[in-house]
Formats: sequence, structure tokens, C-alpha cells
Amino acid sequence: MIILSIETSCDETAVSVIEAVGTFPTARYEILGNALYSQIDIHREYGGVFPALAKREHVATIVPMLEKALHEAMLPHDYTPALTTEERDHVQTLLAREPGLADQLLRFIDDHGRPPITTIAVTTGPGLEPALWVGVNVAKALAYLTGATVISTDHMEGHIYASLYKQGALQPLTFPALALLVSGGHTELIVLRDWNTYEKIGSTRDDAVGEAFDKVARLLGLPYPGGPEISRLAMEARTRSLPQYAKLPLPMLHSPDYDFSFSGLKTAVRNATQGKTLSHDEACALARDFEDVAVGVLVAKVEKALNELGCTHLIIGGGVAANQHLRSELTNLSHPHRFPDLTIYLPETTLATDNSVMIALAGHAHAADAVDAATFANERANGTKSL
Ligand code: KG4
Ligand code: ZN
Repeated sequence: MIILSIETSCDETAVSVIEAVGTFPTARYEILGNALYSQIDIHREYGGVFPALAKREHVATIVPMLEKALHEAMLPHDYTPALTTEERDHVQTLLAREPGLADQLLRFIDDHGRPPITTIAVTTGPGLEPALWVGVNVAKALAYLTGATVISTDHMEGHIYASLYKQGALQPLTFPALALLVSGGHTELIVLRDWNTYEKIGSTRDDAVGEAFDKVARLLGLPYPGGPEISRLAMEARTRSLPQYAKLPLPMLHSPDYDFSFSGLKTAVRNATQGKTLSHDEACALARDFEDVAVGVLVAKVEKALNELGCTHLIIGGGVAANQHLRSELTNLSHPHRFPDLTIYLPETTLATDNSVMIALAGHAHAADAVDAATFANERANGTKSL
């Protein structure tokens, strides 16, 4: 099965072509083409992601990404039959809300032919609504023009598969398995009862942990996205053993559930910085103090869940999974005196933040749910889905 996957849920425009040989979950995967454009430089100027701006950038870059991924994949092109007037008109209708995109896509098909793809996996949620629609509408148009079926794919589920993917295959899982999903929009603890069977046992009551990293970075005058910046300063503070700058609260540490809360922590950082100009060393120390607490709470809740649920497989997914301190603290959980049987799956760094390879993998997991273009268009007429 050749899967074309599309991801436009936030500020990455990504398209991949993946070949799956065999059936899920034991298939072998080959990444034939992979194109990703990050809008981060544009959003950095504004200190965060603006949905309308994200949509504009997706519209401008999705056809070039499609072209790059298909070119890398070197699939044989089908130049015939030429597009009919009826097809052109219908594509214009499907992409009416994305100015100029229908013309770009039609020109691409005129120049390169209809791509020989049989299946399209596209992120349909969660994410920024105007951004998601760009990918969804391109998927609709491509499915209509090629006869490919479409699989509606959950972004967070994609992060789970990104972590399970190693050298062309998914790692085996023992159920129940535990997943910690940490990104700019989500902080969730999920139990996998079986493949594709999820139970959310905890989530944040306010800010997501990635959002807290981004907001704290802004308080320290650091650019967006703040996670890598905070992480860099915190690492310097640890290397140089800088003294504590602020004693910050460990939010929800002792709550009896698996929920999180990060907005109080962000407020505590704001209070610690208000009216002050921090020296470089003070900023490093505060970044470390914040990271210690944020990571400490995540690890404590994971530990509680491992103890109470008896899971031996732990999956960490989402952009914050790129955080080195979180990775090493979680890896410490498998110490012989703590959870000696624990297997931890972390994403390769390139698959930690948003990408479309993970969408192809999650799509393949739901290949049986693929629908034709017309059914997909009806299903997606309103709203997006989430795990
Ligand atoms: O999964 P992702 O790429 O996009 C969303 O689905 O949200 O996650 C982006 C988030 C941002 O908040 C970013 O600051 C955070 O992941 N992030 C990090 C690191 N790298 C990215 N947070 C902490 N440490 C990092 N090294
Ligand atoms: Zn994400």
C-alpha cells in the first residue's frame, strides 16, 4: 500500500509518501518521500502561532511540499487522462475557501500527471481549525482526482506511532501500555488497552506543558517556540550548578488523579520575574527551576500510573518529548530499583515534533476505515476529530 500523508494541524506543512508492506501492526514501512516546511520563523515574530497566518502559509506551501514528496518517491506518473472541465470546476469548488490553491494544485497535476496513490491519510484533528482545513480540502481534491481512498487521522495518535516507529517497523507492545502525550496543545496520559483502543486517564486542566514552556520563555524574553530555548538555558544552569533562583510550586503533585495543571506554575514564574531584569545566570537558573518542576510533575504522574496500572510499556510522544531533561528523567524510571521491566519508547528527534510520517503510520493503523472521496467529503463537512 502506498500512503500519501498530509499534516497541517499547526505550524508545520508536511507531506510524505510511505510504502507499507504487510498488515498493521507487523508491516514494514519505507519512507519514499518526505517534505516538511516549518513556519516557525514566521510565527516567531509574533511570539506564537496565529491560525489565520498558519492557514495562509499552508496554502502557499502545501503544493510545493506535495511536489517534493512525490518527486523524492519517484513513483511512475500517470499523465492520462487529462483533467476534464468538470474535474477542474469541482476542484475549484472543493478549494474555494483557500484562495489560489485550486489553481496551484491543477497546475501541478497538469505538469506532473495524477499521482499513482491509492490511499491518503490526513490529519483531521485536533489542531487549529483553519490550518486543518487546508490539508483536509487538499486530501479531498486529490482523492477526487486520483480515486484514492481517504483515512481520517488523529494528530495525537500520530504522535504515539511516531514513538513506536523504529527502523521501518512498529515496536511490539504489551497491553495495557501507557502513553504520555506532551505537546503545545496537549498534556495527556492515555492507556492503550489494545491496538487502536484508547482510554484517556488524565489531562491538563488549563495550559498544556509545551504552552507553559512557550509562555515562560516569553517571560524571559526568549523567542518562540520556547521549549528548546528554556531547555538550553536549563542545561547551562545544570552544567554550571547554578543556585536555585525561585522556589516554584509543584502543581497537582499530590492530587489523587492523573490530571495536570501548568498555569499556576507559569504565574509563579511571572511573579518571580516581575519588575526585575534578570542576568543571564539568573535566567538560566530560573529556566532550570521551571523545567525541574514541569518535568517533575510529568514523571511523578507517569510513575503513579505505572504503579497503579502495572503497565510495562511506556510511550512518550509530542513536541515536548524532544526535551532532554524529560527524556533522561523518564529513562531513569527503568532503573532496576524502580521499574526493572519497563520498556520506554521515545520518538527519534526528527519525529518528536509535528511531521507527516507519523500521520501515515497512524493512517495505516486505520486502513480498514478508509473511505472514498465522496464519503470523506460528507463526513468532514463539519468539525474535526480527536483521540
Ligand atoms: O507536537 P508539537 O510539535 O506541536 C503541537 O502539536 O503542539 O509540539 C510543539 C511544542 C511547543 O510548545 C514547543 O515549545 C515544545 O513542543 N518543544 C519543547 C522542546 N522542543 C519542542 N519543549 C521542551 N523542550 C524541548 N526541547
Ligand atoms: Zn503535535
